[in-house]
Amino acid sequence: MAETHAAGLDVTSDAGLLELIGAEDPEREEALFAAARNVRAASYGQDVYFRGLIEFTNHCKNNCYYCGIRRDNRRVERYRLSPEGILNCCKMGDLLGYRTFVLQGGEDPWFTDDRIVEILQAIRGEYPGHAITLSIGERSRESYERFFRAGANRYLLRHETAAEDHYRKLHPESMSLRERKQCLVNLREIGYQVGAGFMVGTPFQTPGHLLADLRFLQELRPHMVGIGPFIPQADTPFGGCPQGSLRQTLRMIALTRLLLPHALIPATTALGTISPTGREKGLMAGANVVMPNLSPKNVRKLYALYDNKICTGDEAAECRLCMEGRIRDFCFVPNLARGDYAGGVPAP
Ligand code: 5AD
Ligand code: FES
Repeated sequence: MAETHAAGLDVTSDAGLLELIGAEDPEREEALFAAARNVRAASYGQDVYFRGLIEFTNHCKNNCYYCGIRRDNRRVERYRLSPEGILNCCKMGDLLGYRTFVLQGGEDPWFTDDRIVEILQAIRGEYPGHAITLSIGERSRESYERFFRAGANRYLLRHETAAEDHYRKLHPESMSLRERKQCLVNLREIGYQVGAGFMVGTPFQTPGHLLADLRFLQELRPHMVGIGPFIPQADTPFGGCPQGSLRQTLRMIALTRLLLPHALIPATTALGTISPTGREKGLMAGANVVMPNLSPKNVRKLYALYDNKICTGDEAAECRLCMEGRIRDFCFVPNLARGDYAGGVPAP
């Protein structure tokens, strides 16, 4: 941890981490971001990896208080892409040069294990060398094993918050943090590259909760970590709550980079939504992945987890070019390769 030592950053003790979680002083923040950039450069150079994101269903059986596609939101128009529709997105993604497809959706029972397996096999058959990332929530260990055998390589499942008391305030009784953490452990044991992550600035969140998120990441050692600000969605119970802070989100990205030097960390769409250059700032704070949207234009605005989401009016090709320009403007280098985790097997 030479980087952090030299800059007088203590990322070892709880007190040191809490000081940095709350560091409002711009100079202090910049020291944190600079250290994170150095660590990221040592692990991945200036490269920024692209993932083609396919939001294939906005049906969801869960009822998380923060999320716009929660079950009880009667105001969203629901959609599902057909297997052919999903394959068409992959075709477009492949033409645009992407070598990772991320299949993301709500927890939609219509997509049974059999249907998911069929889709995975079809994609795997067409694109033997591409990475396939699933992000479809909690399923049984057996389901995860079937998906892995059918060709999925990676799995994103944000833990949302690592603190039990906070988790309870964001989710109905039917959901459990223990189950969610167990899913992450199962995915890891099966052999997936695993992505955890959390929102910054959700209602009731304290600095102590964010510390718990960092400690949980240190323990799990995921390959990927998705971090974005909470953004209210008007038709949810948290619709009137304030959005998460840009700078606090950036500090959490930087701290995650320092604690997990080889993690693949996206500059998220939510960051780009709360600030016109939010994603670029994410890269400057240690992120090294972008996930441009590949979903068909006609369904984009329906995948509304939060209000004012960016890129809902743009074609996949436009996002590809736009992202590339933004990355180059900040002296980073777009990298379209698969971009697998570069840290070897993370310590248990
Ligand atoms: N604001 C920001 N992020 C959200 N997510 C869900 N709802 C919101 C919101 N209102 C995030 C969750 C989820 C990911 C797909 O989107 O962290 O895991
Ligand atoms: Fe979608 Fe810029 S990334 S328009």
